[in-house]
Amino acid sequence: MISFFLFQSCSGTFSLNSVHDEKESIFSSYGKGCETKLLEAFSNNYYSLFKMNCASCHVNGPGTGAFASSDLYTAYESFISIGRFKVENNLLNEKHQPPYTGKQNQSIVDKSQYEFQQAEAISNICQNTSRNILLTETQSNQNIFSKANTTNPWELLSWDLENDLVNQGAKIKALFTIEVRGYILNQLLTGYEFRNPTFRLKPNAPAYKVNGINLFLNNIKLRDVNTYSFLQALVNKTSGVNVGLGLAYALVVPEGNLKNNDIFSVSFDEIIATDDVVNPPETIPGGGANPITYTQLTSAGGIFNRSCFGCHNSNNRSGGLDLSNYTAAKNLSSEIVKRTNDAINPMPKSGLLSTTDRDTIKTWVQNGTPQ
Ligand code: HEC
Ligand code: HEC
Repeated sequence: MISFFLFQSCSGTFSLNSVHDEKESIFSSYGKGCETKLLEAFSNNYYSLFKMNCASCHVNGPGTGAFASSDLYTAYESFISIGRFKVENNLLNEKHQPPYTGKQNQSIVDKSQYEFQQAEAISNICQNTSRNILLTETQSNQNIFSKANTTNPWELLSWDLENDLVNQGAKIKALFTIEVRGYILNQLLTGYEFRNPTFRLKPNAPAYKVNGINLFLNNIKLRDVNTYSFLQALVNKTSGVNVGLGLAYALVVPEGNLKNNDIFSVSFDEIIATDDVVNPPETIPGGGANPITYTQLTSAGGIFNRSCFGCHNSNNRSGGLDLSNYTAAKNLSSEIVKRTNDAINPMPKSGLLSTTDRDTIKTWVQNGTPQ
């Protein structure tokens, strides 16, 4: 474990102690801020294992590579030049140098791999451009997986770009949502389909110009899926700007099996605040300057209160859902939108609500379920 790194953001402050100066050349080809994250992930994960299990042969030979060197930079440089996959293979290889190598290293390889991939995601987008790329936190949605074979619903992934960006300091006053569902081929869940990448301005936001949206699966940038990579859009409404309009769905068929804890994230090449005047508040209920809140939905006369509480309260949680509990309602919000718009299996069971009521609930969810 080393403690002299201070990673801030790709283009942000960068501080290493003097050891770094001697090793400047290693990093010059990458861009310093980007590389720090990788070096940190290496040092906190694989490196301790190398020093413990591989040092007898992988410092001064006879093994190829000095990734177990007591000098972190030498070790890192060797690790990168041999390649992560090769080293991981040998770490798990029963035939290489048991008992140092073999399946007993699996869990630490998994953890190392995960953390290194996360660092790679940040550093990749960092290296490819001098612009200040923005990357969201990851999120998963187990419904995509569990419901894919039956109803195969579109699920909503949603990020509040004021709080949910990896880039520290970047505060974009907008919400970003994208729909995703399982992609089924020959009755097998083989990939993910995305559609409707949409921005919604938060109250008092400027209009934003958005350039280029890229999708990530498990922290790996989906380079082959460039449906939204080159789009340019002006986001100037609180009610939602679907920047993917007219574009095909994006389809991802990753190698290997899909997992119910697959995680998704999104990067934006550029989001620039403009001086454009934001459109006047929309007439759509709950949109515009006064977004609909949970309090409104649950107060006397509100939709949840009048149409749902009879079956979804703290005493009678039909389907396990207590709509008088904010967190419960928020957590099931995409299901609420789905069921209130599902003509075959509607909520309430007596039949679909009016379009206005349904849109009001939808807007509440699309705005990030404000309380
Ligand atoms: C007892 C000595 C010894 C130990 C311990 C050892 N190795 Fe090796 N390793 C070698 C030798 C010798 C080679 C070169 C010949 C070969 O490829 O098998 C090698 C080659 C490798 C290579 C291939 C490099 C290339 O460029 O192809 C990798 C990767 C590797 N070792 C990983 C590891 C890891 C990871 C550990 C610790 C968990 C480890 N080794 C422990 C002796 C060792
Ligand atoms: C007459 C009773 C009744 C009313 C009124 C009612 N529900 Fe339901 N709801 C149920 C029952 C029973 C279930 C469980 C069976 C099912 O899923 O169909 C359920 C299930 C659900 C689920 C699925 C929960 C899950 O875990 O997947 C959601 C979401 C839901 N209701 C939302 C609503 C909303 C929103 C309203 C009001 C607009 C509403 N319901 C009104 C009886 C009702």
